Amino acid sequence: MRLAGKKIVLGLTGGVACYKIAELTRALGKAGADVQVVMTESATHFITPVTMQALSGNTVYTDQWDARVNNNMPHIDLTRDADAIVIAPCSTDFIFKLAHGACNDLLSTLCVARPAHLPLLIAPAMNVEMWQNPATQRNVQQIKADGIHLLGPAAGDQACGETGMGRMLEPEQLLTEIIASFQAKTLAGKHVLITAGPTFEPIDPVRGVTNLSSGKMGYAIAQAAWEAGAIVTLVSGPTALDAPHGVRRVDVQTAQQMFDAVVAQLKQHKQDVFVAVAAVADWRVANASTQKLKKTNEGDAPQLQFAQNPDILASVAAMPNAPYCVGFAAESENLLQYGAAKRQKKDVPLLVGNIGHHTFGKDENELVLFDVHGHTVLPRANKQALAQQLVAEIALRSSLI
Ligand code: CTP
Repeated sequence: MRLAGKKIVLGLTGGVACYKIAELTRALGKAGADVQVVMTESATHFITPVTMQALSGNTVYTDQWDARVNNNMPHIDLTRDADAIVIAPCSTDFIFKLAHGACNDLLSTLCVARPAHLPLLIAPAMNVEMWQNPATQRNVQQIKADGIHLLGPAAGDQACGETGMGRMLEPEQLLTEIIASFQAKTLAGKHVLITAGPTFEPIDPVRGVTNLSSGKMGYAIAQAAWEAGAIVTLVSGPTALDAPHGVRRVDVQTAQQMFDAVVAQLKQHKQDVFVAVAAVADWRVANASTQKLKKTNEGDAPQLQFAQNPDILASVAAMPNAPYCVGFAAESENLLQYGAAKRQKKDVPLLVGNIGHHTFGKDENELVLFDVHGHTVLPRANKQALAQQLVAEIALRSSLI
């Protein structure tokens, strides 16, 4: 319930993307938010207030002269106990209205009358030519300068059949952006590099050696670091997960490729923090076959030889001007003893131990943080909540260096 206790005024303006806001409303509710929907007259042509009321569980307002608010001033009352206003979809015309302080319908009046501290987030949705039009761009610059936050837009296929910039972000991306808007920006502007997932070491073109890492913990940390304001690059082994919103993902397969990708990222841009979450294979198959291995009539099993892979974390930690390095350890026994020893061996300021090695693929985890002073426990919670706590720790500790 990452939006528990938050009241969000959700404004809809005219656009085909209104149909996606039904899903966003459900998602906001599931995340614990109290959603107050306000619609322009145009928006009601695309989705009905009845639908939005059913999904939000609250009366929907469309009219400045709506008498259901006691003092008959919905443009004032609806925002006074709100935590944010989100306009999605936000049309070209509504951006114009925001830029000029127009007050000619309930939603625009409500925006002008909002308390100065109340965040206003907009998710533009329009045709590519409308987005690129110099008048729209002028208005966009103006509302940015006025402190209004833009969520997107994205580029891609459009309902009109054209392709380009102007697509509204998807509902789950909007949800992530809204959640992020409430997070402390403890890593603002910092560059964070993360490895995640398993590696896959080929035996032949169709077989390989891998492990059960799902990537969930590393992806959750990448998401939490982005929410904390960082510029995040995620070097990921093969996983079934989508790239976290806002995070740049570099896909790799083998440990050597992961090592090369990490070094390339470090060369491309100085990184402030490196978090090695990946379950990297310690060995690769030295005599991997370029062709598929075939069964023999004699029933001989293939003889695999292994060679050691580079230790990515230890190599990065040993570099001159190394970023603040955080390691992970999945141990099957003696975590406290092995975790402390592993931190020293890899020579990193912080090592995070998973309590129990049955964490792979699970949504929950329990972590132990090892540093030079000893260890502390982050009690069992879902991986998102733990990632958020861990990122707060990393932000604090890396800023003290
Ligand atoms: N790691 C790495 N490169 C490797 C092996 C591990 O970057 N080739 C990183 C992991 O991402 C993790 C930490 O080192 O952050 C510890 O990984 P782990 O597999 O627990 O440790 P190993 O060094 O492989 O030690 P062992 O398997 O012997 O316990």
